Amino acid sequence: MHADQVYQLLRHLTSPVVAITSERAGKRNGMISDSAVRASIVPTIPRLSVYVHKFNLSHDMIFETGRLVLHLLREDQLDLVHQLGFVSGRTHDKLAGVPHRLGRLGAPVLDECFAHFECRVVNVMDTGSSTCFLGDVIEVGYGKASAPRGSVMTAAYFRANMPADWRKDYEDHLAAAQRFAEERSRAIRAVVWKALKS
Ligand SMILES: Cc1cc2nc3c(=O)[nH]c(=O)nc-3n(C[C@H](O)[C@H](O)[C@H](O)COP(=O)(O)O)c2cc1C
Repeated sequence: MHADQVYQLLRHLTSPVVAITSERAGKRNGMISDSAVRASIVPTIPRLSVYVHKFNLSHDMIFETGRLVLHLLREDQLDLVHQLGFVSGRTHDKLAGVPHRLGRLGAPVLDECFAHFECRVVNVMDTGSSTCFLGDVIEVGYGKASAPRGSVMTAAYFRANMPADWRKDYEDHLAAAQRFAEERSRAIRAVVWKALKS
């Protein structure tokens, strides 16, 4: 099968669109991901995982602090996806205009979202180009907007409904990320998460 067809089939495995926030030494940041999944079937041990590319500032902030907050978004939050997912916190203070508070772990919890999960990283897997973070969910809440909350934004919804003038930027960023990943995906490192080092 042609590589593009394989990629389109793999897109069925993308997660809802989520906003991931982090904090390091006073710097607050947020990014967008569609690679988050439930990683536990035990109601009393809630866990999730997410892949974050190494070129993103969020990667280093999460890796170094071992904490993140993952937010499911509502379908009416396309603008937030644009604010957090199209530019880097290296050049922009992306949370400056986004109402939030610091949560139990000290990382930003956004006022507006479908729901949020505060997570402590308990293990990682290196993919060469990204890190898969496994997080213990230690606090959960809904966004502030009153019911009805509507639907969670899926990746397919975002791709179908983003304004036309964002599309070139989106595709350019995706192509750049794919080039980065192509160069590094085969160089997988054995990483032992710091909390597991004896
Ligand atoms: C719909 C969408 C899905 C994305 N999914 C991911 C993802 O799964 N992993 C990732 O590392 N980046 C993903 N990104 C890209 C980051 O959100 C983007 O590179 C962001 O600017 C990173 O910001 P930072 O450098 O401040 O961390 C996605 C972006 C969009 C718009």
